[in-house]
Amino acid sequence: MTDAAQQTAFDQIGGAAPVAAMVNAFYDLMETDPAYARLRAIHGPDLTPMRASLAGFITGWLGGPRDWFVQRPGVCMMSLHRAMPIDAELGRQWVEAMARAMGQAKIEPEMAKALSEVFGRMSANMTTR
Ligand code: HEM
Repeated sequence: MTDAAQQTAFDQIGGAAPVAAMVNAFYDLMETDPAYARLRAIHGPDLTPMRASLAGFITGWLGGPRDWFVQRPGVCMMSLHRAMPIDAELGRQWVEAMARAMGQAKIEPEMAKALSEVFGRMSANMTTR
């Protein structure tokens, strides 16, 4: 039995399946909803590697298996985005699409709210222009 005090956020969200569901819903929205056309346009043609990478990052970041970080020693999410043409509107689209994706993936509402707040802060710090 796992002691509740030792549970990671990755345990609390429900593990790998809900993380994959929210990430896939996020890129599905990006690919299909014209509201995110600009966000889609700055990504590469094939989002398959992104689905794996974002799920891997979120997994380790929430305290789950750290494979993504082990494979990228010393990587900084902020530095990764520094060279990208990210303005406030793109940041807003990212956070909105992810909030909708978490709803579709049935992430528990308190968890989704907390994650949305953190994603909002990260995205604001990724704005480069
Ligand atoms: C501010 C809004 C954001 C924009 C506009 C944005 C845009 C992008 C773009 C264009 C890429 C490269 C895609 C490609 O090569 O096809 C990327 C990669 C990535 N982004 Fe973001 N991003 C944003 C916020 C975030 C946030 C908040 C996170 C984490 C929670 C994140 C996680 C990632 C990851 C994990 C990668 C893949 C890195 C890799 O495997 O090389 N992004 N992002």
